[in-house]
Amino acid sequence: MERWSSTGAFLLAAIGSAVGIGNIWRFSTVLGQNGGGAYLIPYIIAVFVFAMPLMILEITLGEKFRGTIVSAFRRINPRFVVIGWFLCVIVVLILSYYLVITGWTLGYTVLTLATDAPLFSEFSNSLLPIAFFVIATLVTGLVVSFGVNRGIERISIILIPACVLILLILAAYGTLLPGFYQGLTYMFTPDFSVLADPLLWGAAFGQAFFSLSVGMGILLTYGTYMKSGQHIPRFTLIISLADLFVAFLAGLVIFPIVFTFGLSPTAGAELAFTSLPIAFAQMPAGKVVAVAFFAVLFFAAITSTISMMEVGVAALRESLGWSRVKTTIAVTGGILLLGLPSAMSYSSLALKLDGIKILDFMDETVGTLGLPVSALLFSVTFAWYLPRETLESALGGEDGIARWIIPLCRYVIPGVLIMTTIARIASGLGITNTYLLPGTRYIGLLWQLEGITAIVVISLVLIITACRLRGCNLRKRLGFGSRK
Ligand code: PHE
Repeated sequence: MERWSSTGAFLLAAIGSAVGIGNIWRFSTVLGQNGGGAYLIPYIIAVFVFAMPLMILEITLGEKFRGTIVSAFRRINPRFVVIGWFLCVIVVLILSYYLVITGWTLGYTVLTLATDAPLFSEFSNSLLPIAFFVIATLVTGLVVSFGVNRGIERISIILIPACVLILLILAAYGTLLPGFYQGLTYMFTPDFSVLADPLLWGAAFGQAFFSLSVGMGILLTYGTYMKSGQHIPRFTLIISLADLFVAFLAGLVIFPIVFTFGLSPTAGAELAFTSLPIAFAQMPAGKVVAVAFFAVLFFAAITSTISMMEVGVAALRESLGWSRVKTTIAVTGGILLLGLPSAMSYSSLALKLDGIKILDFMDETVGTLGLPVSALLFSVTFAWYLPRETLESALGGEDGIARWIIPLCRYVIPGVLIMTTIARIASGLGITNTYLLPGTRYIGLLWQLEGITAIVVISLVLIITACRLRGCNLRKRLGFGSRK
């Protein structure tokens, strides 16, 4: 079995998964929309009390079980294999549209380098978003096909330090801008009145789980490539702190520019692709800053897409017994097909479903609801159905952190996930900060439910047809029959 070549390589790959476009503009947008500094209180609680325990559980299970997300569920009960595959489908669907946005970041890097920053209205009215989506998907597939050492860790070791370095330089540049102090004040002035709002807490939890890529089997998969006997809680602390650090740093880059050029601080994705390019055009050395900014976005995004693809590739490879390269080609092809409608919706083809852009639709369905649902399934299955002794011994004995992690994952995390998801669905409606792309429109509850159902049905039909065409025994292939 493949293994990380060092602890540092594992950490950088895990940080690469966590640090993504979520840190660069989603965090600052959510912070700005929710009372600035005061938002940090629920966010830090969400990270350290809720997301981190689940992360410890995830990595530990990966390291102990040495399997994929599917075989981990199968270990508990062969029937739970369905949940494992369901989680894979959710990850792959999120990946399919996350790659579209990754494509935009690559497109903006290349176009800014070649000419001037494009207007988003022009960019999204061409076929370029589709082309860059295809390139981003192929790059992700290529890296994954090279494997854990030569692919995933090598790219993370280069891109993550590069991201931090570029952000540090950009933040230093930001201190020279006249809007620096205003930006700083905006980010850190607390408005404690917002703490009474339950939706704010919901937003903080959503952001924490999303930003740390926790509850979807990604860290479990990365954990399987770890050497045994490592201090996992310390690693999760490092990953969480690094994720937080990059989010702050990105805020320190974005807000001084926003206030110097009179842009709207809460515009989210629109800010990155519409307003900031206008500011870059007016800044001294603006072209360099623009290229660096979009390159950081692309680097951050691509290390996240790689981690998502690895979940699907590892699971499929294990159950079909294919080589890594063959499985990666199949998964890359599947994702190209799945993501194409989302890519086309923000292109001159303007693909829509009843007036809703497909990418907005995906963000509203799998993006908004998929993550809490999968984190819920994950914590409930492992914390409730795995024998307590197994859990305790995996977590280093009954007296250690198991005392905290087990009750948190059994009662508190599922409770909070259920409550915040219900609150989010019920109140709805315009809470833009729960989306991957702040600013996408709310498409309506009925549409969301129908959308989720349609997506699940389509995925199942696809899997079954593909299997039938190959003449394989689906039950056995998916692991219902056999225990590995
Ligand atoms: N954590 C990534 C980000 O902040 C996004 C992500 C979510 C990656 C879920 C993998 C899984 O952008």
